[in-house]
Amino acid sequence: MARFTLPRDIYHGKGALEALKTFEGKKAIICTGGGSMKRGGFLQKVEDYLHEAGMETELFEGIEPDPSVETVMKGAEAMQKFQPDWIIAIGGGSPIDAAKAMWIKYEYPDTTFEDMCKVFGLPKLRTKAKFCAISSTSGTATEVTAFSIITNYQQGIKYPIADFEITPDVAIVDPELAHTMPKKLVAHTGMDAMTHAIEAYVSTANCDYTDPLAIHAIEMIMNTLVKSYNEDMTARDEMHNAQCLAGMAFSNALLGIVHSMAHKTGAAFADLGSHIIHGAANAMYLPKVIAFNAKDPTAKKRYGVIADYMHLGGSNDDEKVKLLIEYLRKMNDDLNIPHSINHYGPDGLPAEQGFVPENVFLERLHDIAANAILDACTGSNPRQPSQEEMEKLLKCCYYDTEVDF
Ligand SMILES: NC(=O)c1ccc[n+]([C@@H]2O[C@H](COP(=O)([O-])OP(=O)(O)OC[C@H]3O[C@@H](n4cnc5c(N)ncnc54)[C@H](O)[C@@H]3O)[C@@H](O)[C@H]2O)c1
Ligand SMILES: [Zn+2]
Repeated sequence: MARFTLPRDIYHGKGALEALKTFEGKKAIICTGGGSMKRGGFLQKVEDYLHEAGMETELFEGIEPDPSVETVMKGAEAMQKFQPDWIIAIGGGSPIDAAKAMWIKYEYPDTTFEDMCKVFGLPKLRTKAKFCAISSTSGTATEVTAFSIITNYQQGIKYPIADFEITPDVAIVDPELAHTMPKKLVAHTGMDAMTHAIEAYVSTANCDYTDPLAIHAIEMIMNTLVKSYNEDMTARDEMHNAQCLAGMAFSNALLGIVHSMAHKTGAAFADLGSHIIHGAANAMYLPKVIAFNAKDPTAKKRYGVIADYMHLGGSNDDEKVKLLIEYLRKMNDDLNIPHSINHYGPDGLPAEQGFVPENVFLERLHDIAANAILDACTGSNPRQPSQEEMEKLLKCCYYDTEVDF
């Protein structure tokens, strides 16, 4: 038996934010990030619409990018005090993910972070509150997914919480919120979405329900991401939908080792003063992982189907895989994303000298590889890497060398 779960309602298109006026409840806590939603005037709108719906509201703001366990605990405390029956999370993946984890702790105050991380092991939520997610970036699709990514900064590791219990009740996908994204954010979140769609399509958990969503998302992202990056707002509107479709696919088909590696390298060098931004990590690792996974015959065939949908040409699957890899690398160039960690500079931009020195990378390689293998996303990857293979793959991602194993 397989399960396919999505939010009960997805409001999309311009003006979708107004759906909040129709919500029924008494108290809503609004969780958001560092100020982009306030500056864009969206936070005020959310408050106004909820007041119009007769609700009392409270604000929990300042959720940082790549949210920490500590922030989750703080937010849960605020919820405990306010006792909301709606949690409204607005912003990028970070505040929405943090609010999802806060929700678990709010419903079950004795739950520890370790408890939350037991894959598909959460107790029943919605005994206290329902959850609405409003996305302002076009990538994570956390507004429709069963996932939340929280960072344990003591360990330098990102942990995915995975359970259909945290699939939001309502998602609002209003493209206007994405209009204020700076170009770099468009690039990174967009390649995150592309990775979601491709990993979902070749995942061992793919199915007839997820394939159409994944393949259509890939086609849409191919046609709109670079245009959106170059400030074409019609394309940006389409990207907001495309990333959501990719999310519907991967929430049910799961992901693969591009994400395992991104999760485990993301915060591994935080002590050197920088993160490897999630979407940029995915963009760099995806071509390498495709080359690695294509040694699996089923995966190779599926990459071939993707290449066909993208009209890339090629007369056999080997050629199609090569053309797909080349295409994705060209997208990275068009989006000003480096190809490898050794050229990953500040702000995720290409640099002659990246911020992760070779010796530090090599020192930490063994542990990062071991953690990546243990990541929740590894299980559904079409080819299971050994410790040695994962280390080699990560080295290819560091030096931008050919994957020939
Ligand atoms: N839950 C999932 O299924 C899932 C999937 C992929 C990634 N993630 C996680 O999501 C996080 C990344 O989320 P993200 O990429 O959406 O970025 P983010 O939420 O971390 O935001 C990045 C920055 O962009 C700003 N910002 C957000 N929206 C904006 C807008 N419209 N205009 C201007 N500025 C804006 C934020 O204030 C912040 O400074 C990572 O922690 C990643 O691991 C989660
Ligand atoms: Zn992702």
